[in-house]
Amino acid sequence: MDSKKPEDTCVLVTGGAGFIGSHTVVDLLENGYHVVIVDDLSNSSPRVLDRIHRIVGDEAFSRCTFHEVDICDRAALEEVFARHDVDRVIHFAGFKAVGESVEKPLEYYSNNIGGTLTLCEVMREAGCKAIIFSSSATVYGDPDALPLTEDSPKKPATNPYGWTKWMIEQVLTDLTVADPEWDVVLLRYFNPIGAHPSGLIGEDPKGIPNNLVPYVAQTAVGKREAVHVFGDDYPTPDGTGVRDYIHVCDLAAGHVAALAWMNGRCGVEVFNLGTGVGSSVLDVVKCFSEACGHEIPYVVEARRAGDVAENYADCAKAGREMGWKARYDLADMCRDSWNWQSKNPDGLGA
Ligand code: NAD
Ligand code: WQD
Repeated sequence: MDSKKPEDTCVLVTGGAGFIGSHTVVDLLENGYHVVIVDDLSNSSPRVLDRIHRIVGDEAFSRCTFHEVDICDRAALEEVFARHDVDRVIHFAGFKAVGESVEKPLEYYSNNIGGTLTLCEVMREAGCKAIIFSSSATVYGDPDALPLTEDSPKKPATNPYGWTKWMIEQVLTDLTVADPEWDVVLLRYFNPIGAHPSGLIGEDPKGIPNNLVPYVAQTAVGKREAVHVFGDDYPTPDGTGVRDYIHVCDLAAGHVAALAWMNGRCGVEVFNLGTGVGSSVLDVVKCFSEACGHEIPYVVEARRAGDVAENYADCAKAGREMGWKARYDLADMCRDSWNWQSKNPDGLGA
């Protein structure tokens, strides 16, 4: 497509009511874009819309539309594309729980891959061929060397969720080979945490959290007794797993940077989005304890199956090409997670 200004650009955001999607919608609206959210609310609350409204204000929110639609529902998705002249898509919608994907592979392949295929077919019919996709550092598996660059070896994933990310990257890459009009950006996120500094939106997991920081946050607020540290015998400085945690607002900014960068180009490009800094499980517990003002109890347990010892990103490419760089550090992330968790101890509800 020709290059367009944000105020003339309509961005359809699948999964825009979710954790990363809602923060990205805020950033898009604050940057002048028109936003169409498509979300079936299978893992999010409609209340997030009011929260987004409160953050961005009336004028910006008037540029936001919401459709409760499952992206696997072709007719409903076609209807959305018929109603809006969509220029680009940011595609967050999908299931994301690694453990659950092992229990329910069909549901994960069907929703993540089937949903993406339907979305791309409907986009093609509508003449919209620009998409940014939420991929994951999971495609690198157990690293041979650190930091991970976009060219580091990709390892067969150890779970269906990871396979869906890798397979969708391949599907979207193949599209650009078959039809050079497709403009695809694959963003490989490291570990997104934190929340909007307002405390109005944040991560709202249903049930017992699988990921470290939501579990730490719920322990800090008294909903869980103690953090379970999965292994302290890794070959890392303190023996616990090391990850590259990135503030969700930095991640959101990465999508806005990618939208501006892809303006009118074609082909496929991949970027890591992380901070380049590795933090251990105990670093996170300590930093969160400082943020909430009291010691967070933890117990050390056996390693979790499928976990790697350490990963962190080389994000030089995103800096060089898109002018994007993470701004927040782990203390900022813990402060904002705590702010969100303490103001919304039970999340947003159904
Ligand atoms: P999330 O569950 O909070 O958001 C996903 C949203 O998609 C939810 O609002 C859910 O209701 C919606 N959704 C799911 N299936 C749908 C469908 N068929 N049709 C319409 N809406 C649907 O997850 P998130 O953490 O915001 O992750 C967003 C994306 O980023 C996902 O694709 C995820 O795999 C990817 N990702 C997440 C992480 C992470 O740690 N959070 C890391 C790397 C990649
Ligand atoms: C982080 C560290 C655990 C929970 C997952 C997905 C990945 C991506 C991000 C989507 C590890 C340890 C955890 C707990 C713990 N998601 N831990 N106690 O596993 O790096 O990545 O989310 O794409 O694909 O696999 O994140 O937050 O689960 O774990 O000690 O209760 O915390 O062992 O070292 P992970 P995580």
